[in-house]
Parts: sequence; C-alpha cells; structure tokens
Amino acid sequence: MSNTEGLIEPHGGELIEKILTDEEAREARQQAEELTSLELDGRQASDLEMLGIGGFSPLKGFMDSADHEAVVEDMRLSDGTVWPIPITLSVSSEQADYLAIGEKIGLYNQAEDLLGLLTLEEKYTVDKEKRAEAVFGTTDPGHPGVEKTLEMGEVCLAGPVEVLPQSSDRFLEYRLTPRETRDYFAEKDWKSVVGFQTRNPVHRAHEYLLKCGLEIVDGLLLHPLVGDTKSGDVPAEVRMECYETVLENYFPEDRVLLSVMPAKMNYAGPREAILHALIRKNYGCSHFIVGRDHAGVGDYYGTYEAQEIFDEFEAGELGIKPFFFEYAFWCEVCGNIASSKTCPHGSEDQIYLSGTKVREMLREGKGLPEEFSRPEVAAVLKKAYQ
Ligand code: ADX
Repeated sequence: MSNTEGLIEPHGGELIEKILTDEEAREARQQAEELTSLELDGRQASDLEMLGIGGFSPLKGFMDSADHEAVVEDMRLSDGTVWPIPITLSVSSEQADYLAIGEKIGLYNQAEDLLGLLTLEEKYTVDKEKRAEAVFGTTDPGHPGVEKTLEMGEVCLAGPVEVLPQSSDRFLEYRLTPRETRDYFAEKDWKSVVGFQTRNPVHRAHEYLLKCGLEIVDGLLLHPLVGDTKSGDVPAEVRMECYETVLENYFPEDRVLLSVMPAKMNYAGPREAILHALIRKNYGCSHFIVGRDHAGVGDYYGTYEAQEIFDEFEAGELGIKPFFFEYAFWCEVCGNIASSKTCPHGSEDQIYLSGTKVREMLREGKGLPEEFSRPEVAAVLKKAYQ
C-alpha cells in the first residue's frame, strides 16, 4: 500500500470503513438466515454502500435521533462535526413494530441479495415537514428531494452497520473506494487533488472548470454520481461514456482519475454542496469545484447559494477547500468558454444552454452545437437518444 500521509485527513479524522472481509461476509450470510430481514430500495442501498466504504465518514451507521436533530437544526452531528444532510433508514410503523432494540437485522436488495447488517439501537419518528424545510429550504412536494422525504416511512431505524463487499456490479472497474482513490493519489504523488461532482453529461463549461482546476492542483478526480437521480436526468451508463470520450480526446491521461460515486442525488442545492465536498474529502481530495446552482433543481436555489453556504463554516471545519466558479458560457466574440469574470461582451454574444434545453434537443434528434458540447460527446448522446 502507498503512503497516503500527505493527503487530506478524512472527515472526522479517520476513514470509517464497515466492509466485511470475505470470511466475515460468509459468516454474516449464515447469521442472516436467522435474522429478521428488511428490503432496501435503491436509495437506501446506496446510503448503505456509502457507509460501508467510508464515503460518509465519520458516520458508522444510520443516524440516531440526536444526530438527526442536530443535522436538521445546525448542519452538525451531535458532537459538533459538520454534517449537512440526514442519513436515515426509514420503515413503516408496522415494520418497526416487529423490530426490537438490540437485534441485528439483515438488509437485502430487491433481488434478495444480502447487502449488510444493522444492529438496531434506536427507533424514532421525524417531523418530515421540518426536515424538508431545513434541508431543502421548501416543503413543496414538487421538489424531488422533498417528495422523497415526505414519502419516507414513519419510523427511522438507527445503528451501526456492517456491509458486504461489492453491493453493486455496475461500473465495477470505476467503483473505487475512498481507500483506493487515496492509494492512487499517493502512488501518483498527487499532493493536491480537485474533486468534481457531476450528474450530467460533460459539456464545454464543465470541461472549462475541470481544466481551470487542473492548472492549479496536481490531479483531478472526475467523480460522477451514479446513485439514484430524478427521472429525466441522463442515465449514468450514457454519462460514463461521455466522460470516457472527453477524457480520451481532451485531457492528459496521467492527470485525471475517473471513478464513480455511488451516492444518490438529493437535489438539496447548498446543503448538498457541503455534503458533496465532505464526501470528496473522504476520497482524498484537497479541493472541490462548486459552480453555478450546484446540486440544484428547478428554481429552488439562487445561482450562487451553494457557494455562499461555505461561509457559514470555519475553513478548518470543512478541511477541503472549495474552488468557486461563476456561471460559464460560450462567448461568440471571445471564441471560448468564459464567465463574467473574464469576458466583457454582452448577453447577445453569450450562449447558455440549460440541461432541460439540451435534453429537449436530443429528444428531437437535433445535434448539439460545438459551443456547448464536444462533437465526440454529442455523438454519444445522439446515439443514446435515438
Ligand atoms: S450537479 O447537480 O452535479 O451540481 P452538474 O453535473 O450539471 O450538476 O454540475 C456539476 C458541477 O459543475 C457543479 O459544481 C455545477 O455548479 C457546475 N456547473 C455546471 N454547469 C456550469 C456552468 N455553466 N457554469 C459554472 N458551473 C457549472
């Protein structure tokens, strides 16, 4: 194993990995035959995977009521560590009635594979409206994160988890754990690494942010989220092909690591920008890109709200440093991607394309303009939408 000492510390100081060894996994499978079983949906399974691999360090399991309350109220765990979004496992009241404090529960996916075990330490109810208002800034059920919150089961189950290795076989070659990306950075001798969160196909403005970041630090972790996204977002398989294509054609091979992030999207804008940064800190990134309307949806958040929220914390509390970017666009006069910080021309010369507009063009079978998308990426998207 490489020396990862020069890298940023995980959040809370230590990677909390809850993945069982193969031997322990065999025992867990036997043990689970005697245990009450609980089926997780895809979003819960991705939380479990994140807990297992240490992506959610310092969390050891699903949150208890004290942590839940502190996160909702103050964006902190009950011990004061910054944490912006609750990570909870909810079930119906009927299901909860059958579960006793202290018992171990087998956690399964819909295909009935054992994913992990939960040692039940607490059952509690949450005020969903209050949580939605705090986390998403709205209780509008039209917001995809609020919708999921309101649909939650009535009772949250808290306790530490143990997770079986390899809960998903999607994108296996790219499914590096925080320990593995840290080892990779150390092996490459990257002292500073910028992380990039994305849930969209890569476009020219993304590429601009990535390259600006690469001018400053040693390496880039291109880290698309591949957990659950809202309907309408481009499927992760297609997005991955776009990232592969753009890397192959436009980036130096030895300065970028492409890997996937198994978490789900919450669309919590500012709070999710903090979560996304802390997760990347766990993966070993010293810096994290936050552009316009990070993790936003519709018009719920202001363009730079996800940047402003970083001011609410002391720099040392987060550890990872944000790289903030203005809204980037193609300028016809400059002939390149620019922002209001670098381009003096007017809006009539600036080309902005929203994700919605792009999907509309793809559905209509139209090609994407070069100002918006590299032709190789446009070809991947066109093929996928045919
Ligand atoms: S997100 O939900 O993961 O934030 P997306 O994949 O579109 O969505 O964005 C990835 C990152 O790029 C985010 O930090 C976002 O703010 C930033 N970004 C996307 N488009 C632009 C743009 N045109 N100008 C500046 N930043 C952008």
